[in-house]
Amino acid sequence: MSVVRHLRQVDADAAGVDIAFRADVHAGLSQAQKAVPARWFYDTTGSALFEDITALPEYYPTRSETDLLKRHAGAMAAAIGAGRAVVELGSGSSTKTPLLLDAIQPAAYVPVDISGDFLRDSADALAARFPGLAIYPVEADFTQRVALPREICPLPKLGFFPGSTIGNMVARTAVDLLRNWREALGDGSLLLIGIDRTKDIAVLERAYDDPAGVTAAFNLNLLARINRELGGTIPIDNFEHRAIWDDVHARIEMHLLAACDLDFTVDGRSYHMAKGETIHSENSHKYGPRDANLLLRAGGWTPLATWDDADPAFALILAQATEFRSAP
Ligand code: AVI
Repeated sequence: MSVVRHLRQVDADAAGVDIAFRADVHAGLSQAQKAVPARWFYDTTGSALFEDITALPEYYPTRSETDLLKRHAGAMAAAIGAGRAVVELGSGSSTKTPLLLDAIQPAAYVPVDISGDFLRDSADALAARFPGLAIYPVEADFTQRVALPREICPLPKLGFFPGSTIGNMVARTAVDLLRNWREALGDGSLLLIGIDRTKDIAVLERAYDDPAGVTAAFNLNLLARINRELGGTIPIDNFEHRAIWDDVHARIEMHLLAACDLDFTVDGRSYHMAKGETIHSENSHKYGPRDANLLLRAGGWTPLATWDDADPAFALILAQATEFRSAP
């Protein structure tokens, strides 16, 4: 077995609840436009529901990205080279990872994920499939600063950030994350990142509001998590899932809409919502080619190659942490 016991970098209170979750929920429910950050979707149920979403016919990103990894494995391997430590941000169930690991022959693999159960299971599955590979799982929120295992220090690194998860961040947070990871991975490192493209609005809205209701269940599970972990009394049946395209920000917004006037408590604190009011639960930004390259450059990464011929459109971009140029 080549999985090293995983590093845990999550601050939990005496009840085992993530301190940041409690703070984010109260801060978000106290705003005029109520909002809870999308990263709190991923408890065990939410992570399993997200896996179900990735198999939906309407949810194209996973299929498109997998297709790109399969079709361009040779070109990616040539551009990346062997012997790197692959650090995967938000590894989840790591379903696309074997395609990359098969192609590039890495020296080590570091999955970073906030969901400890998923992390352990997927690391064990990968260890069985790649018995010679050193695996160092890190249970942590990859949007915060993460200490990497010291064993990978001497190795050249490849950050792997698939799934267009960068799209779940507003531009400022996305740039902060790219800069943090540029610093963590070091000068000269590479980053292979999945970015969802802007496209026909009907295709986007179907992908985030599927007829089987899996995305609705994923969205509503956030309320169930608040009730369970924070002693909430939110009447979940009185909420509806909404997914709306916002053209100004080029993003799908997910909301939880109050179907009637509501009162509830979380941790004993009272909240009120009027009928039609929403809790904003997720942004999923979509990027054209120039926007994506600009985002990467703003984060300190120079795009080297783009693979984006899948339909519906999705891109995998290889970028490098290069020295900043002082020229205007
Ligand atoms: C994880 N992330 C990239 C997904 C997305 O497409 O924004 C989360 C998701 N939300 C609803 N469906 C999928």
